Amino acid sequence: MHRTTNGPQVLRAYGTRCAGTTADRTACALLPVPPPPSPERPIVSARFPTLLCLAFVFGIGHPHSRSAPALDNGLARTPPMGWNSWNHFHCNVSAQLIRETADAMVASGMRDAGYQYVVIDDCWQVARDRAGRLVADSARFPGGIKPLADYVHSKGLKFGIYTDAGRRTCQGRPGTYGSEEIDARTFAEWGVDYVKEDWCNSEGLDAPTQYAKFRDALAKAGRPIVFSICEWGSNRPWDWGPRTGNLWRTTGDISDRWASMISILDLSSQYALAARPGAWNDPDMLEVGNGGMTDDEYRAHLSLWAVMAAPLMAGNDVRTMPAVTRDMLTNKDVIAVDQDSMGVQGMLVQEPAPDLQVWSKPLADGSRAVVLFNRSGLQTVIAATWRAIGLTGSAGVRDLWAHTDLGAFTGRFSATVPAHGVVMVRITPVKGD
Ligand code: GLA
Repeated sequence: MHRTTNGPQVLRAYGTRCAGTTADRTACALLPVPPPPSPERPIVSARFPTLLCLAFVFGIGHPHSRSAPALDNGLARTPPMGWNSWNHFHCNVSAQLIRETADAMVASGMRDAGYQYVVIDDCWQVARDRAGRLVADSARFPGGIKPLADYVHSKGLKFGIYTDAGRRTCQGRPGTYGSEEIDARTFAEWGVDYVKEDWCNSEGLDAPTQYAKFRDALAKAGRPIVFSICEWGSNRPWDWGPRTGNLWRTTGDISDRWASMISILDLSSQYALAARPGAWNDPDMLEVGNGGMTDDEYRAHLSLWAVMAAPLMAGNDVRTMPAVTRDMLTNKDVIAVDQDSMGVQGMLVQEPAPDLQVWSKPLADGSRAVVLFNRSGLQTVIAATWRAIGLTGSAGVRDLWAHTDLGAFTGRFSATVPAHGVVMVRITPVKGD
């Protein structure tokens, strides 16, 4: 199913880049016009000319030259990293959970690996007081939110919270519609560093307008707050998100299943060209460690999120995670790909056979992060060619999961990839070659 939808969509994304700046158009004008994609034709043949264009853009052109101005709040210059309560705990949130999670993020090394924001999702709020301020559930958050934010800060972490742009949240709690200014002020007073704003119960409202209202209210409140737009990709947020928020969800909710993860990958990757420092596509929070996928599948999930420059918000119970989950989440080589300062979202660049894919992300030092992605149920060999990833000559290859330098290669690199799994490497051109 993904093949008939993804191929033409990815092609369109590349085509958009080819229709972009003068430099891009000049590069692409040199290339043959791609035939119209058809479900019958293998997408790899139709995609070839645009792949060349992509390699050109990634190799030579300025990666963000097509971009309209982004929100200038100075935040999220690399994709935000942290933890969010929703995927594992749903409404079962409390100050105790958040404190224990903050402690565990320090003890496990997650904080030091870059996970920064501890975010309470839905269900912390129960009402508004007479002054119109949001009120936290006093049984679950005794003393309210401010002392909790202080505690999180005392651990060297940042604090995030959830609201909804509509009248009520997805779980029926009070929403921010009509209370944008007071909510932004309240969050700033509490010491909030990150706000996720959902889109339930927003019938009749215009998403770009409502999210811009809250963006402006946050700016007025005067505290640096990362703004996470969560309208599930329903109003083309990749078009207006960059000037409105620091990240925007591109799809509906992830679930802890392989099929969910890859369908989100296929959808979110279509909007790669909208991403840049300060403004990121958000394919939703991680499910790593929640139990519904195998370890190979979780490694694939994390690798693909990193190559997409996705926000990395862990969504598991970090207080009780086994070493295998901790080691995955804190893999510094993989995190460095996600957090690369150039801020380009990687793309699908080769599909040598059905279900065998090569994803590539250009990095600031001229290297490429490459994910050999086996979507099939059988272990197999996948090769990435230098042509597809925009390199020439000899290049050093490092395996980012084995943490091993594999030596120098010329023209291509291939490896055996487990079923529903990845091999992720960093390919660095040898200087002077
Ligand atoms: C929506 C969002 C989720 C989560 C829930 C909370 O479904 O997309 O990420 O925030 O609401 O109710």
